[in-house]
Amino acid sequence: MPITVRDIHAFKQRGERFIMLTAYDASMARLLDQAGVPVLLVGDTLGEMVLGHSSTIPVTMDDMIHHASAVTRAVENAFVVGDMPFMSYQASTSEALHNAGRHLKEAGVNAVKLEGGGRVAEVVSRLVESGIPVMGHLGLTPQSVNQLGGYRVQGRGEAAQRILQDAKHLEAAGAFALVLEAVPQALGREVTQSLSIPTIGIGAGPHTDAQVLVLHDFLGLTMGRTPRFVKRYASLGDEVTRAAKEFAREVVEGTFPDSEHSYD
Ligand code: KIV
Repeated sequence: MPITVRDIHAFKQRGERFIMLTAYDASMARLLDQAGVPVLLVGDTLGEMVLGHSSTIPVTMDDMIHHASAVTRAVENAFVVGDMPFMSYQASTSEALHNAGRHLKEAGVNAVKLEGGGRVAEVVSRLVESGIPVMGHLGLTPQSVNQLGGYRVQGRGEAAQRILQDAKHLEAAGAFALVLEAVPQALGREVTQSLSIPTIGIGAGPHTDAQVLVLHDFLGLTMGRTPRFVKRYASLGDEVTRAAKEFAREVVEGTFPDSEHSYD
């Protein structure tokens, strides 16, 4: 059965932890859906993981629609959330409505996600009033990397109260769930206990209602240093390298294609 916003709220009411993973294409989305992942996020990490950018800033609404459409075409049950890229919702509420509407109408996502607290609360409430479920995103908000001065832990000291207040503003504005990224675990717990909507943590400790990881980090496809909160559940990067080398060797040696892989 397709997952709905009501199911996502019910997870929290029942105290049942759940996961979200990012997905950017049909084949991965199909596998994750068949594995029973309840929520897929077509994140704007698309920019770094798939499009070769060094941040999420260059990602456009057209990029998001293109990839989110592929994901929604592949899934049967997962609830699909489409990220709103940088500058698709900040300039005005009417632009936010237009772009979020595109996500639902053209890509077929079930909800949108946007970054920020009190300053986006009005936009969130207008989207929700228009029938568009909204997931919030607080803590480390990568679209503000230039203002934050890098990808660093947020919400230490006095900043913790601001994040807690922002979380309450988002809930009051009608957000159905909230991503909390790179904050101390005590703050992850406090926000989670203060809200009736589920919190989905990434680097926010073990007390949030759900956990999200970026697909390429989770599968071991990312190169170089990853943040402390990343756990690799597979080493597909090593497998890809091994497979490519083996294919090349067999072709060079003349052992592929053999008679099993050739037509008479
Ligand atoms: O864009 C994304 O992948 C995200 C996750 C890090 C939650 O926002």
